[in-house]
Amino acid sequence: MRVQSAITALAVLVTSVAAEERVSYEGYKVYRIDTHDESEQIHKLIDGLHAVEVSCGESDHFDLAVAPEDVEAFQALGFDAFLLSEDLSVDLAEEGPVESFYESDANFTLEARQQSLPALSWFNLYRPYVEHATFFSQLQAAFPSNSRIFNVGNSYQGRSIYGIHLWGPGGQGSRPAVYFHGTVHAREWISAPVVEYLTWHLIDGYRNNDPLVRSFFDKYDFYIVPFVNPDGFVYTQSTDRLWRKNRQPRSGSSCVGTDGNRNWNFQWSTPGGASTSPCSETYRGQAAGDTPEIRALTTFTNSLSTRGIKLFIDWHSYGQYILLPYGYNCQARAPNHNAQMSVAAGFSNAIRAVSGTRFTYGPSCSTLYATTGSSPDYMGGAMGAEYSWTVELRPGPGGGSSGFVLPASQIVVSGREQWEGIKYVLSTI
Ligand code: ARG
Ligand code: ZN
Repeated sequence: MRVQSAITALAVLVTSVAAEERVSYEGYKVYRIDTHDESEQIHKLIDGLHAVEVSCGESDHFDLAVAPEDVEAFQALGFDAFLLSEDLSVDLAEEGPVESFYESDANFTLEARQQSLPALSWFNLYRPYVEHATFFSQLQAAFPSNSRIFNVGNSYQGRSIYGIHLWGPGGQGSRPAVYFHGTVHAREWISAPVVEYLTWHLIDGYRNNDPLVRSFFDKYDFYIVPFVNPDGFVYTQSTDRLWRKNRQPRSGSSCVGTDGNRNWNFQWSTPGGASTSPCSETYRGQAAGDTPEIRALTTFTNSLSTRGIKLFIDWHSYGQYILLPYGYNCQARAPNHNAQMSVAAGFSNAIRAVSGTRFTYGPSCSTLYATTGSSPDYMGGAMGAEYSWTVELRPGPGGGSSGFVLPASQIVVSGREQWEGIKYVLSTI
């Protein structure tokens, strides 16, 4: 009996390990395909291939990583394509390891006891999911009278969607909101560390009586949510580095996941900016807000309406863009469009001053492509957020064979660029 149950336990273990086996991209070849305005037709033809799209969304071409077993079949389709990478797994390795920060007592116990901010070496590498919450707790502990950790609700798999709320001398919740989201798309790893870098510097500046940072706290409350899609992010760390959506199954489909940036209740059903197919990377869901993540965030967001949202930024990668309203329609513009364009121009200049990196800015649909049910459209269109943007971080649009993978050595400079940019924005709006 004991032997039997041990065998059963072992079998269960083996199956669950097998189910979670890491996806290998060894031997995947990455091609850039010129669409010649036939994107839809091309997508139909590649539908049956084992392949992953790794584009940043520019419309004249797209990048496709093709599994070794289907490279021949892909070539037989005869597209106007050129090889970007011989082996995607080699490019993925450039990201560097995911390494623990808090395992060593020096980084946590001691410093937390002293109520100091986490060491900036946090940003030297990508970190395991669980440690990001610890990092935020440590920030909070270092800023006890002016911050609190909040939980907007739980993800499909039951993870807390947490954030940090920071406030200044006016007290908690007394000012309009500056509101940041990170990691709605699981594979866009640079987004969370950049948002954490901004949070770190806001707190550090306040603690050190930096007059500029203090002036931001005189005007705004900050609400910062680094992981809109924790389940997807955990899945990219355990199983598939290039996963994008959440991890919610749908009855009647074997495909998993809804795109959280197509699920918000603003122009959700307008055609052309999302997919109705559960297998698509831009699947919008069956109804607006029918993902646990976006439902919870909608409730939380609506609660900010009392004081209003001054600035919302949804942090993504990649392509180096600052994208303004709107996504759902290429002619639609915010009422304060000219003001948003001028602040975005200054934002882009402030980023470039750090080390020459160029960020393109403009309305999101006309600059990149159409999206419906996106969070910046909801914030701007339904919540009246004055400035409501998507920022697509490094690398640039030409960005190598998988732009979702940014070498860890570029985390700090990405953070610095955004911090300089945000300081300009917060002192200008
Ligand atoms: N890459 C993100 C997405 O696909 C942001 C898109 C930006 N918005 C836009 N209308 N193009 O959801
Ligand atoms: Zn994205």
